[in-house]
Amino acid sequence: MPSSVMPTPRRSDDPRSPAAVSTVGLRKSYGDKTVLDGIDLRIPAGSVFALLGPNGAGKTTAVKILSTLVTADGGQAQVAGHDVATSPDGVRAAVGVTGQFSAVDGLITGEENMLLMADLHHLPKHEGRRVTAELLERFDLTEAAKKPASTYSGGMKRRLDIAMTLVGKPRIIFLDEPTTGLDPRSRHNMWQIIRELVSDGVTVFLTTQYLEEADELADRIAVLHEGRIAAEGTADELKRLIPGGHIRLRFTDPDAYQSAASALREATRDDEALALQIPSDGSQRELRSLLDWLDSAGVEADELTMHSPDLDDVFFALTGGNDRTDKKGEAVR
Ligand SMILES: Nc1ncnc2c1ncn2[C@@H]1O[C@H](COP(=O)(O)OP(=O)(O)OP(=O)(O)O)[C@@H](O)[C@H]1O
Ligand SMILES: [Mg+2]
Repeated sequence: MPSSVMPTPRRSDDPRSPAAVSTVGLRKSYGDKTVLDGIDLRIPAGSVFALLGPNGAGKTTAVKILSTLVTADGGQAQVAGHDVATSPDGVRAAVGVTGQFSAVDGLITGEENMLLMADLHHLPKHEGRRVTAELLERFDLTEAAKKPASTYSGGMKRRLDIAMTLVGKPRIIFLDEPTTGLDPRSRHNMWQIIRELVSDGVTVFLTTQYLEEADELADRIAVLHEGRIAAEGTADELKRLIPGGHIRLRFTDPDAYQSAASALREATRDDEALALQIPSDGSQRELRSLLDWLDSAGVEADELTMHSPDLDDVFFALTGGNDRTDKKGEAVR
């Protein structure tokens, strides 16, 4: 095993990049309920990491531990090079957290919320005003700046929340369900904001229940299930974990269907629909060889469709139904 590597330029998703967040065997229980049951993570600096899980999976608990709002019962966690247990101040100085439940004070204006954050970060008055104006502008809140935040829409509040998080210029940002409850347009705006943060070099740790969101934004995704990481990898790696990619051929002529079915032995038959499913990785090469084979066999399908598994398939395969990762062998919902 190579013990050291030459210094080479590294991409942010290169596993050799310095870790912004790393955990080993992180555990947390509330009473007799085990919420996190040994979590190992390594998030390279400058990357986007998505922690995916259903309600109650422990996403917020993980964020709270990593941002030092809650202490773990066991294991280790390092954030921005500081241990959360022994150097919480170091962690706090480096991170920003936008919680699942807004930190915005509705009784005061958006601008006042921002200035309050600037005070909390001990920015000199003029610097606080400058940063506030700049961030309000960046998040399209200048016009609403002098109105009470309680009058803001959900999307505006969420933008204000993130703007407040950025006042302290964090290198690592935790976004706990940044788009839950937003309409599609606001969600896309939020995605754009997150991409801009990343292009500034910030590490983003986000939690989400939306597979599409993780697919869209994250360099790496971990699926949290029953207190453990059920799977971890890029969206493509996760999709490859589960079967489901296939090419479907549909026929109208029963004879053509029969002859294709007897020749294509690896195909799954659907005699009712006169359709065949052939497992496929979705590559052009595989599609071409299938088409060549159909041509040479004189088989003509009336319809050919490609199906690739999406993250929803992965998520449900890992967290529900016939759960392949269910080590206890219990019947699950
Ligand atoms: N302070 C607490 N006291 C007792 N139980 C708690 C506490 N905080 C969280 N829990 C429990 O821990 C589990 C995980 O909660 P957590 O909020 O981390 O889940 P989540 O993945 O963020 O869910 P959601 O998608 O609903 O936000 C839940 O069963 C919750 O009831
Ligand atoms: Mg939560």
